Amino acid sequence: MPQFKVDARGMLEIWTIDGEGRRNAISRAMLAELEALVERVSRGHDVRAVVLTGAGDKAFCAGADLKERAEMSEAEVRAFLLGLRRVFRAMETSDCVFVAAINGAAFGGGTELALACDLRVAAPAAELGLTEVKLGIIPGGGGTQRLTRLVGPGRAKDLILTGRRLNAAEAFATGIVNRLTPEGHLLAHAVALAESVVANAPLAVAAAKHAIDDGYALGLDDALALEFERYEPLLKTEDRLEGLRAFAEKRPPQFKGR
Ligand code: COA
Repeated sequence: MPQFKVDARGMLEIWTIDGEGRRNAISRAMLAELEALVERVSRGHDVRAVVLTGAGDKAFCAGADLKERAEMSEAEVRAFLLGLRRVFRAMETSDCVFVAAINGAAFGGGTELALACDLRVAAPAAELGLTEVKLGIIPGGGGTQRLTRLVGPGRAKDLILTGRRLNAAEAFATGIVNRLTPEGHLLAHAVALAESVVANAPLAVAAAKHAIDDGYALGLDDALALEFERYEPLLKTEDRLEGLRAFAEKRPPQFKGR
């Protein structure tokens, strides 16, 4: 049974986790399908942005599938976790831009999934939390590291050590969520945000994403050197010249990804 509904709109796709009955929790089957989807968009260069959301109005993703987890051996839990880490990293290293449209609860692995996205948009009903310590574990899908890089160690400890849940307004105020949307406007807003990325020169967008992600934890000199490394190949692109021509001719640019 497919775990995602995929709505292909040219250079943009909407992936909806199709597991409303289990609050879009991450099962092994769901993770395998997500990995295949991420591989597909990362291999080709036709899809430049993905909006990721959950079915229904209750949950974006309730984290790991805890019913499945209860039946798993220690070795199986370890293998699942390694898979989760691999898929989240593949989203980050992909040239594709991922936008999480958080329509409801996102706990544990659900928040980690949102953190592996490049941008996060939330509905008023969104709730986030790295609640793992309440279950005797810690965030293992990158949560301790990605949340810390996003909001700093002080706020990350406040959230991870307490395991508390944040509503949409708090998540926005903390800087976890980029944009808050009014009731009923989440998907349209997330799609418009993704479209505004897709309209830009694709090689430049990918270079900027990786310059930010890879440079963030470096010292400033190394980070600036990395930025220059990412800039340099763009000098030779047709899209750079097209950007300059379009500006001179007062028209929108037609980027080709070359
Ligand atoms: N794994 C598997 N099933 C889950 C699940 C999960 N993580 N979260 C919810 N479900 C299932 C429930 O067991 C329930 O199944 P049932 O109908 O067979 O009893 C169904 O989804 C609906 O859950 P319910 O709690 O009644 O829905 P709700 O809309 O009132 O609340 C949540 C939704 C997500 C807030 C709540 O289910 C929740 O807190 N889930 C646990 C999330 C969590 O702790 N994740 C961290 C993992 S580290």
